[in-house]
Formats: sequence, structure tokens, C-alpha cells
Amino acid sequence: MNCSKNFINPCVGDLGKKVLRVAITGTPGTGKSTLSKIISNKMGCLLVDVNEFAKKRGLFAEKDVKRGSWIVDEKKLKKETDAIKGNIVLDGHMSHFCRVDIVIVLRLNPAELKKRLSLRGWSANKIKENVEAEALDVCFLEARKKCKNVFEIDATGKSPNALAKEAIAVICGRNREKYAQNRINWSFEFVSVLRESI
Ligand SMILES: Nc1ncnc2c1ncn2[C@@H]1O[C@H](COP(=O)(O)OP(=O)(O)O)[C@@H](O)[C@H]1O
Ligand SMILES: [Mg+2]
Repeated sequence: MNCSKNFINPCVGDLGKKVLRVAITGTPGTGKSTLSKIISNKMGCLLVDVNEFAKKRGLFAEKDVKRGSWIVDEKKLKKETDAIKGNIVLDGHMSHFCRVDIVIVLRLNPAELKKRLSLRGWSANKIKENVEAEALDVCFLEARKKCKNVFEIDATGKSPNALAKEAIAVICGRNREKYAQNRINWSFEFVSVLRESI
């Protein structure tokens, strides 16, 4: 596939840029890495796993004692990823802190998210925290503070390829109004999850 012809060019036309930087963000488990692999492949561009990148470069601010994990330093992350040139897909729940032209926020029904995170063997607390973050639109709201081109895609019940098609259309400037209006509201689904755990 000639990626530059089929994918990048329409985007350049739309965004008026020669280089395109895309962030794929969302709550852990929503399918960011799966989607990022497909679209970076189709774009023929560099894929950066933001968590791995931060780990390898030690871009941490402090240790989260309660969770036993390190907190990524947003400023250092932005500075170091800024230095990467060319077309790029940044994959990770902190990718919206990087300098990007467009952010895709992947969303997932909290009940489905809970199932996926349980399969990871995470603690009940960690799962609860992340399901709540999804229900409260945390990534979307954070991303909207950082970037003006922020679009949400509901991944629930869709195959990775179907999602890639939607994401690519949005990146290329199609159907944007449909994905930009904070339409996703998980209140109802979240209440069902809460009831289940009582
Ligand atoms: N569209 C999808 N439909 C069903 N399962 C998916 C889909 N995308 C990803 N998954 C599965 O969900 C889990 C989390 O996906 P992953 O891409 O690692 O999410 P993230 O990077 O957001 O944490 C994996 O087991 C993956 O195979
Ligand atoms: Mg991932």
C-alpha cells in the first residue's frame, strides 16, 4: 500500500501541514495500542508507545507510593517527544500531553472495560479507579485542555479494523462534527456496573 498517497496526502490537504502528529489516548484497556498499531501501519509512520518511551528515558516526576508506580513528568514527556521528527502516532493514556495535531480519545462501555481489565489480573481497586475514570470522561476532558482537535470514538462492539477506518476518516478530516461534541455519556452503563458490584 502506498501510504503517503492513500493516507497522508488527504490529511496534509485537510490540516495544511506537511507533518502529522496523532495521539491515541483513552483509559487503559480501551484498545489504544491495538488501534495505534493498525493506523501507524496504514500511515507508514513511526509508532511510539508513550509509556515505554517514558520508562526507557526515566521521564518521571515522583513515585506514587500508594500505587507503587512512577508518575510521568508531563513537561519532560512533552519536551522529549517534541524532538521526534516526522509523521508519528503516539499511543498511550498520556499521549495527549505531547505536542500533537489531533487527539483521538478511544472510549469503551465501562462494563466491557471492567471485563478487559479483569483479564489483565489487575487489583479490584485499580480496575475500579480506571472504570471510574472512563465513566467521568477523564482522558477526554484532559485532552480538551491541551489540544483543539480532540475527537472521541466509541470502541464498544467494534472490531479493531472498523475502528481504524473510523479513526483514519476523522484524522483525514471527515465526519469530524460527529466525534467532537462530547456525545459519549456512560452514566447509565456505569450505574449498571456499580449495581453489579454491590
Ligand atoms: N476493538 C476491539 N475489540 C475487542 N477487543 C479488543 C479491541 N481492541 C483491543 N482489544 C483487546 O482489549 C485488550 C486491551 O487492548 P489494548 O490495545 O492493549 O488497550 P490499551 O492499549 O488501551 O490498554 C487486549 O486484550 C486487546 O486484544
Ligand atoms: Mg496500550
